[in-house]
Amino acid sequence: MKPIKVGLLGIGTVGGGTYRVLLRNQQEIIRRAGRGIEICIVAARDLERARSLVSETVQVTSDPFEVVNNPDVEIVVEVIGGTTLAKDLVLRAIANGKHVVTANKALLAEHGNEIFSAAQKNGVMVAFEGAVAVSIPIIKALREGLSGNRIEWVAGIINGTTNFILSEMRDKGLGFDEVLAKAQALGYAEADPSFDIEGFDAAHKATILASVAFGIPIQYRKDHVEGITRLAATDISYAFQMGYRIKLLGIAKKTSLGVELRVHPTLIPARRLLANVEGSMNGIMVKSDAAGITMYYGAGAGAEQTGSAVIADLVDVTRLHTADAAQRVPHLAFQPDAMSDLPILPMSQVVTSYYLRLRVADQAGVLAKVTGILAEADISIDAVLQREADEIDGDSASQTDLIILTHDCQEARMDAAVARMQALPTVLQNIVRIRKEELA
Ligand code: HSE
Repeated sequence: MKPIKVGLLGIGTVGGGTYRVLLRNQQEIIRRAGRGIEICIVAARDLERARSLVSETVQVTSDPFEVVNNPDVEIVVEVIGGTTLAKDLVLRAIANGKHVVTANKALLAEHGNEIFSAAQKNGVMVAFEGAVAVSIPIIKALREGLSGNRIEWVAGIINGTTNFILSEMRDKGLGFDEVLAKAQALGYAEADPSFDIEGFDAAHKATILASVAFGIPIQYRKDHVEGITRLAATDISYAFQMGYRIKLLGIAKKTSLGVELRVHPTLIPARRLLANVEGSMNGIMVKSDAAGITMYYGAGAGAEQTGSAVIADLVDVTRLHTADAAQRVPHLAFQPDAMSDLPILPMSQVVTSYYLRLRVADQAGVLAKVTGILAEADISIDAVLQREADEIDGDSASQTDLIILTHDCQEARMDAAVARMQALPTVLQNIVRIRKEELA
């Protein structure tokens, strides 16, 4: 059988990695897909560079619409990134009856519902394994491997840049800016690093994971997003002393009221496997009713690592493109007419536990007042640490840090308690509050 023809939109880092692996592993891929997979046309901004990367038989163009309109092309691979041109190209490819493989998490988080619905109407597949934690087949695991389960929650380190920054800050005692520059030099960071450090990249991925786990429409705008820019080294160190590590987690949790969808720095017990996912690596835990806890680990960025996911999608599409559309795996794991309308919960309704740090006047009765407020709010304390006064900069004799770990409570109740504690004259600075997950 003749190879299936693929058009490639973008031959930067990911496109280049995909092209290279596809060529290198073509024989293995044929054995799996049943026929060859051949990139026949590439759209690139830098034509000279593109020509130097591909063989002479591949057409190179600066007009990406030539790729999506090319009658020979059956699958379009979109790896140009962004959400404007990429969206137009993907929708045009779908309208032209072509299957799409994309690694573009921002595109799917922003416009996934529209794209999947267009694909559904046109009977084509849109595959996106490379959009989340590239080297880890987490979309496959959630959509297919765990399809016999009721998934309860997904919690993951799904941004390598921030994990690298947090690991280096903790291990080497380096400053935030210095480590960010290192992450950029190593090629982990997004073109705009605020996407990483403010949590948006992780939120794109968490949004996609929530949809695939629970069969809910993509609702990126309802995701609660906090990055790591306000995290202090002091709290990383206190958390460590109390047996926890701080990670930027993407969390999607199903409750009886709705779905919690949130990205924020989180204390997790140091003994959990996930706490030991270090550097730029990604790790994802899934809790489901039958399989229990499963965990997935691997590189979250990289040219060939993303290429690996893109090619897996190409193999899937090649195997299934002649099948009846109804027999294919649904885009968001659940049949389009069986999607759930469970709401995304506002943060005030989220239930979690907390780390609190209060800089207080070192006077009799201060701890009692603070714990009294928590008791009145029905918030149960798990552990308390008072830092030695001489370790604090400045007026060490009259100030101390109180670190309190709580059990689970509703965020609205914690908000009210924090406001009351903050109003105490003996609380001298803004209270630091970081959420904590036991992941048991
Ligand atoms: N900037 C992303 C990360 C790359 O750091 O994980 C892959 O999405």
